[in-house]
Amino acid sequence: MAARYCLLTNGRSNSHNSVKSYFDEVAKPATFAQQFCTSSHDECIRRSFITLIIAIDGPAGSGKSSTARTVASRLNALYIDTGAMYRAVALYCLDNNVSAETVVSEITLGLEQSADGVNVFLNGKNVSARIRSQEVSDMSSQVSQIASVRDLMVNQQRALAAKATSEGRTVVMEGRDIGTVVFPSADYKFFLVADPRVRAERRVAQLKEKGEDAEVSTLLSEIIERDKRDEGREHSPLRKASDAIEIDTSGLLFEDQVDKILGVISGNEG
Ligand code: DC
Repeated sequence: MAARYCLLTNGRSNSHNSVKSYFDEVAKPATFAQQFCTSSHDECIRRSFITLIIAIDGPAGSGKSSTARTVASRLNALYIDTGAMYRAVALYCLDNNVSAETVVSEITLGLEQSADGVNVFLNGKNVSARIRSQEVSDMSSQVSQIASVRDLMVNQQRALAAKATSEGRTVVMEGRDIGTVVFPSADYKFFLVADPRVRAERRVAQLKEKGEDAEVSTLLSEIIERDKRDEGREHSPLRKASDAIEIDTSGLLFEDQVDKILGVISGNEG
């Protein structure tokens, strides 16, 4: 998919061949990050129509969800959490004690951006909290291996992005196969990784915040097991697209990983 760049200035439309040219010609001397952080630039951003597809993939605990959410918010883009969609299918199977293969056509999903992520609607019901349980995590890893489920999800993800870009919105989509399968021609692709132990420690900290206790060693084995399943599955295995930029977040501060991505998009970092 080719990127579309258009800036409306005082009612006039100016086209730019690349994001870099937009920033060089229009946004100078402010940096990209400042542009999207500084409230005095809000009007400029509101009037800009730069629609990009930004793919952020990686394994669980690599920091991709929080990073993708923040990048989307800084770009005033639509954030699409594709893992939440697989989780909703998994919840449906658990609630109804059915296999995803047989019921996938009965499932209607809705995603709505919220202040802290996405609200997910399963056949009209808000299931945003319920899809985050451990039971659903385990089941989602299983349903995501089924080809008919993946086909439906991929079609819905493309439709959501097409609607947003047709309305002039950039899309930040995160998952496992966005850069390889859903949008192989995404404008920007990032693949976040982190040491499994660091990922297990992050998960323990997250659970602690919710008042739940967990052992690093237990979570570490679960993470390794899930990675194996995600990387080894037949359909759309988790892997880095050859043209994706890999970011190892093990030793990075959160703000640094966000800035790294924004830096690449602005053309300030290669
Ligand atoms: O990112 P997450 O942990 O919420 O994802 C839940 C499950 O869905 C996980 O097992 C991987 C799978 N998934 C997938 O196969 N493809 C995606 N694009 C997103 C998630």
